[in-house]
Amino acid sequence: MGSKEKLLLAFVVCLYSTVQLEAQLQVGFYSSTCPRAEPIVQEEVMKGLQSNIGLAAGLIRMHFHDCFVRGCDGSVLINSTDSTQAERDSPANNPSLRGFEVIDSAKTRLEALCPGVVSCADILTFAARDSVSMTGGMTYRVPAGRRDGRISLATEASANLPPPTFVVDQLTQRFANKGLTQDEMVTLSGAHTIGRSHCTSFSNRLYNFNSTMASDPTLDSTFASQLMQSCPQGSNDTTLVVPMDPSTPYTMDTNYYSNILANKVLFTSDQTLTSNNSTAASVRMNAMNRMLWKNKFAAAMVKMGQIEVLTGSDGEIRKVCSVVN
Ligand code: HEM
Ligand SMILES: *[C@@H]1O[C@H](CO)[C@@H](O)[C@H](O)[C@H]1NC(C)=O
Ligand SMILES: *[C@@H]1O[C@H](CO)[C@@H](O)[C@H](O)[C@H]1NC(C)=O
Ligand SMILES: *[C@@H]1O[C@H](CO)[C@@H](O)[C@H](O)[C@H]1NC(C)=O
Ligand SMILES: *[C@@H]1O[C@H](CO)[C@@H](O)[C@H](O)[C@H]1NC(C)=O
Ligand SMILES: *[C@@H]1O[C@H](CO)[C@@H](O)[C@H](O)[C@H]1NC(C)=O
Repeated sequence: MGSKEKLLLAFVVCLYSTVQLEAQLQVGFYSSTCPRAEPIVQEEVMKGLQSNIGLAAGLIRMHFHDCFVRGCDGSVLINSTDSTQAERDSPANNPSLRGFEVIDSAKTRLEALCPGVVSCADILTFAARDSVSMTGGMTYRVPAGRRDGRISLATEASANLPPPTFVVDQLTQRFANKGLTQDEMVTLSGAHTIGRSHCTSFSNRLYNFNSTMASDPTLDSTFASQLMQSCPQGSNDTTLVVPMDPSTPYTMDTNYYSNILANKVLFTSDQTLTSNNSTAASVRMNAMNRMLWKNKFAAAMVKMGQIEVLTGSDGEIRKVCSVVN
């Protein structure tokens, strides 16, 4: 190799490592540019949960719905415009997604303190982490440096987010599309140990299940009758909701997995985890070992938080989380 080639090689290697560096998120990303970033988000999450503890579930789910659609780029926060229906108005998100006001109040404070520095995508990632730790989950450090996307399309939400009617192979595929393993899918589904669901998300399992069965036979019959009380057949009330884990609806524990083993979970996508030997083994393992699950959950959240992120000079730092600059 001549010296010219060597120089070219060095240049390419250097360029490559710069690109690699740019693509890395970092723990403490704002430590010099906006050191109060994480504490301020935490304060706003705390305030939000004090007024409505259910928002913890809302924020954890919102982060998942952000990351699965165009990566964790804050696209779930963008409002629809006259010409485009945004993610946030897809049936997967509207009317069920909640917690936007917590992100907005954190953003308002951060823009006053360090304008144009902290991305909405990072605020949402921090808020999800704080929601986990404030409801009894394990806390974890969030690598940051995400930039905000400028595109948000309702159609992409439907195409990428798994519906509650999915069975294990379909769920595994949707998570694999985002670089997550089947076991990470089982681990992350454990978020259904907090929060609520609208009746409309699972009423297919209660009434007219199929031509021979009124209700889903994999649903515990006592639990099914309780759900029928809360979710009357033919009701037009789209605001009816039930807790996901009725015994401890606000605690990040492993009841979700015991509920699966007792056939007392709301969605096909939850119950189906017993239908595959390897997911069933994980369900049993998590049900028995709370610390194991909490650790795995934290690690899987960090990994989910890195899906298709924008870094470096890609995207932008939005001024207001619901509108692109
Ligand atoms: C495995 C595939 C998944 C499916 C099919 C699914 C589906 C759903 C559905 C249908 C709801 C109820 C929405 C409503 O009607 O109000 C829900 C709620 C929820 N989901 Fe999932 N989900 C999945 C995975 C996840 C993951 C990975 C997370 C987070 C790590 C998550 C966190 C939540 C939370 C916390 C709630 C409660 C939201 C609230 O109370 O506002 N889900 N999910
Ligand atoms: C975005 O939409 C929400 C909900 O409709 C609304 O409350 C909010 O004011 C909108 N944001 C902006 C900047 O217009
Ligand atoms: C109805 O669902 C049950 C349980 O999943 C299944 O065994 C049965 O074959 C289904 N019947 C029809 C007609 O699809
Ligand atoms: C729901 O709405 C439909 C059409 O608007 C109406 O026919 C039906 O009676 C309503 N059902 C109930 C339970 O109110
Ligand atoms: C269970 O999941 C594993 C891993 O994805 C897959 O290889 C296997 O085919 C599945 N088994 C069944 C019975 O679906
Ligand atoms: C799943 O486990 C059952 C019971 O242990 C076994 O009979 C069956 O062969 C297993 N199926 C697969 C696909 O490994």
